[in-house]
Amino acid sequence: MRYTLMHKTKPVLRLEIDEDTGTVSGLGELFTPEHLPVGIPFIDGAVNRRVLNEWWTGRSIPASRSGLREALEWLNVYSPQLLLTKCYGLSLSDQYWLCPESAALRWEDINFFEHPFSEDVGNILFGEMKDGGNISLVSPDNTSDGWLKKKWIIADGKRCLMKGGSNPFQQEPYNEVLASLVMERLGVSHATYSLTIREEYPYSVCEDFITPETDLVSAWHIMQTQKKPNHVSFHRHYLNCCEALGIHGVSDALDRMLAVDYIIVNEDRHFNNFGAVRNADTLAWLGAAPVFDCGTSMWYDQSAAMVRPSAKLPSKPFKSDHAEQIKLVTDFEWLDFTALRGVDEEFSEILKGSAFIDEARCGVLCHALRRRVELLQEIAGTR
Ligand SMILES: Nc1ncnc2c1ncn2[C@@H]1O[C@H](COP(=O)(O)OP(=O)(O)OP(=O)(O)O)[C@@H](O)[C@H]1O
Ligand SMILES: [Mg+2]
Repeated sequence: MRYTLMHKTKPVLRLEIDEDTGTVSGLGELFTPEHLPVGIPFIDGAVNRRVLNEWWTGRSIPASRSGLREALEWLNVYSPQLLLTKCYGLSLSDQYWLCPESAALRWEDINFFEHPFSEDVGNILFGEMKDGGNISLVSPDNTSDGWLKKKWIIADGKRCLMKGGSNPFQQEPYNEVLASLVMERLGVSHATYSLTIREEYPYSVCEDFITPETDLVSAWHIMQTQKKPNHVSFHRHYLNCCEALGIHGVSDALDRMLAVDYIIVNEDRHFNNFGAVRNADTLAWLGAAPVFDCGTSMWYDQSAAMVRPSAKLPSKPFKSDHAEQIKLVTDFEWLDFTALRGVDEEFSEILKGSAFIDEARCGVLCHALRRRVELLQEIAGTR
């Protein structure tokens, strides 16, 4: 079927989607190359179909998502890519969508920022299978990334992402709250996560930091805007790409994110877990995105006996060891260690509400957190 790739109200490119596979099967007229998704090369007046298809199918729920297989079976949908056109590819993290050539749809009338959406897909992904034939597939959950169980909700009129944890400790939601309070204390720009308990299971809830005026662009896509020479590190390459695009303040933002990740021992800061925000109308860059997705930290899946704050600890995305990655931080002047006093006690209070984390584990984690702050202070002191 034929569509026009739209960026908010602007037509970008005509394309064809194979309805059997949900993939891009053909490309047509290009209207506004400057509005192509970031990282899609436009060479000699042409867009590469494979690359555009990667971008498009990359908008779908990843195969690794917890509960996906059961949800697709229930919905009788063969693959998550086939869910994309059901919501026109609309998302709550940017302003791209597909307008069917046969329909005169307007972004103003259908976007999820200003219009309600069904929670059916989200609920089914949460394992709440709805009986009856009238399931609505018009949902921003069709275009949400990440492996943890999650759904978009509207709470007090605000779009919020509600995200679960993983067994055995269901610790990720608590870690999100910890990361928020660490960044609050340090004055680091972040998405604020709060905690909610549903049927004894914890979930984190954070407000959408994207608005109808903005796009979140992942570091991954930013890094596709230039070819990385072999001798250039990923860290340097990312900074170079940001500089060339005119995104300001990225070095400072990276310093802050890497320092926070060191403290909380984040293991999963991959290139889709940070990025930058731009204005979707003018394409002007607003700067680094607030820090989000910090749940995969604090030994979230390790037994208490394995919690060793001074050990070699895995990190991403620039180095595989936190002790190495922290060396990339160029400046610690902004980091006021006195602001972190008592953060372990606050974490302990938060963890007390968990049915999955006992007192012993809580004590070990809080001690480890205190130790991580001390270790960072030692590192900062030697600079
Ligand atoms: N507050 C937010 N506002 C807008 N977009 C968001 C927000 N939080 C997350 N997103 C988008 O949703 C995606 C998935 O969210 P998130 O990274 O928190 O999930 P996850 O399951 O923890 O991911 P991972 O697989 O990296 O562990 C993000 O990559 C980002 O594009
Ligand atoms: Mg993520």
